[in-house]
Amino acid sequence: MTVVDDIKARLDITDIVSGYIELKQAGSNFKAPCPFHDEKTPSFIVSPGRQTWHCFGACSTGGDLISFVMKRESMEFGEALRMLADKAGVSMGTPNIKTKSTSIFEINESAAKFFSSVLHSEDGQSARDYLKSRGIDQSTAQIFTLGMSPTQQTSSNLLQHLKSEGFSEEQILESRLINKYQDGNTADFFRNRIMFPIKNRRGKVVGFGARSIDNSEPKYINTPKTDVFDKSGILYGLDISHKSIIAERQAVVVEGYMDVIAAHQHTNENVIASMGTAVTDVQISQLKSLCDTLILALDSDTAGQEATLRKLEEVLIDSANKNMMGFNRRIGPIIKRDSIEIKICRLPVGNDPDDLIRNDLETWQKLISESVTAQEFMIESLPIRFDLHSGTGKTAALEWISGLIYSSNPFDQQNYKEKIASKLDIDSSKLDPILRELGRKSKRLRNTNRTKFDKNKTAAAPDMLNSEVSLDEYTLAILLHSPELKEIPESFSPECFIRSEDREIFTQWLETGKIDVLKSTIDDSIRPRLEQILDIELKPIDLSQSVNSLEQCFSRIEERHLRKLQEGLLSTESSLPSSKDLEEAIVKMNKRLKEIHSQRG
Ligand code: UTP
Ligand code: MN
Repeated sequence: MTVVDDIKARLDITDIVSGYIELKQAGSNFKAPCPFHDEKTPSFIVSPGRQTWHCFGACSTGGDLISFVMKRESMEFGEALRMLADKAGVSMGTPNIKTKSTSIFEINESAAKFFSSVLHSEDGQSARDYLKSRGIDQSTAQIFTLGMSPTQQTSSNLLQHLKSEGFSEEQILESRLINKYQDGNTADFFRNRIMFPIKNRRGKVVGFGARSIDNSEPKYINTPKTDVFDKSGILYGLDISHKSIIAERQAVVVEGYMDVIAAHQHTNENVIASMGTAVTDVQISQLKSLCDTLILALDSDTAGQEATLRKLEEVLIDSANKNMMGFNRRIGPIIKRDSIEIKICRLPVGNDPDDLIRNDLETWQKLISESVTAQEFMIESLPIRFDLHSGTGKTAALEWISGLIYSSNPFDQQNYKEKIASKLDIDSSKLDPILRELGRKSKRLRNTNRTKFDKNKTAAAPDMLNSEVSLDEYTLAILLHSPELKEIPESFSPECFIRSEDREIFTQWLETGKIDVLKSTIDDSIRPRLEQILDIELKPIDLSQSVNSLEQCFSRIEERHLRKLQEGLLSTESSLPSSKDLEEAIVKMNKRLKEIHSQRG
């Protein structure tokens, strides 16, 4: 029995959850309004039999008692486990040895407090004046825990402060807040800057952004990559904005810290920042679980537009083409089911959201409400990308955009076709025959590929496996051994795995995607399980076969999970007002099960 099993065996999920919210008995289950989103009729269900919880409403997520505590208390896996171990009277061994990531979180937290105290001290006058000049009021500064890093001249020193809090130099260096030079000297990484603590969704400080106060260059610097900080995987402001993103089912992505802060202070609270880079897949997938629509309000300069287009191309066109090529057929409906609608808000050149919000709020709100769909934005961009005066250019443009046409519903299709025809300056009735011709060309290509694919089809299907290895282990093993398959479980919920450790391994894997990083950041209590999975020997198979096996595995695991949820729901007596969300959830589950079956065909 692992320590996780031991802790779970000694505790009861209804006791733990009742410590936070009032549960009402409903048949063999318990019901309550979901503690993670606003609702009147309860769609949050706790099953003592399976020791699980699930919100059948807007969150549509669930898990076990560890994930409940993680979500409710904004804790990392290890912290939640330690808190529960305490309650259960289980000793977790040497409690002083912290994982690297726990200590980085604590150091960052302590540094954020330090920077905030500098901001409010005598030395902080220039920074306070600067914030004032940018229109940031005190309460907003507090909400975002803004701070100031001391100037070289001042006596306050971050290193001393952190040491006095009991952190070792080695731990402090891991956080990259302090530089150590070859001659042994050390220096604060951030000097004389406005400090923006960057937090993960659970509110843990993962790193810092820092702006110069005196217009010295570079304008912004950020914490270098650490075990817990990778700029491309984080959305600035998500800790504060996620509630409103869930409630509004919509998120607005801007580029900068200042943009998020201005939006929060003056208008929308569902705004987060990609921190100056094009939105990444990791960022999009984080938002997928929270909302249905994502509005990109990014710089309208050409570089920004080009970056946005490339991303959209990847997200929309690639997946559409892959489906058409038969490569990812099984994944197709999954992508669609949970996929998020991406819209583009076109800002006037030279205006960033911060300027607009503070100087012309009405225009900002109008622009947001007039955001165009990604499809429309891409059609608009055709003349920028292709020479639409030549036949070759028009053909290339159509080939590029045809995947997008076919992946949309018939009504939108018609609308897109008309717009495309007008861009290509042809009669819209001519478009269909041309598309058919292009389709025939690509079908010939597809057939050649398929014969190739069938010939070497000897993929290790999960049912041929040694029965000692469970479906979950096997799935994780394939995934961990092939980083290139990271996008496949795109909309798969970690909740579908049976063991808490597997859920955590899976979640962390999606965040990092690298075995070394995973090994070093995963909580100690999970490491044995991770080693066990990495030790599973897989028959060498090629990529398309792995894709195939992995798809089969995910659909089996999802089916297993849906069946269990359904059973659970059936034993929930409807003595309480029945929630519309609950009814819809049942219909949705049935639909999804049918889909899984027809895909397996
Ligand atoms: P901008 O240059 O648009 O800055 O960069 P901004 O947010 O408008 O800044 P202000 O208004 O002049 O203060 C947008 C974002 O890109 C990242 C930061 O996250 C910034 O908020 N960035 C920018 C950097 O990381 N480094 C830089 O040197 C510049
Ligand atoms: Mn700005």
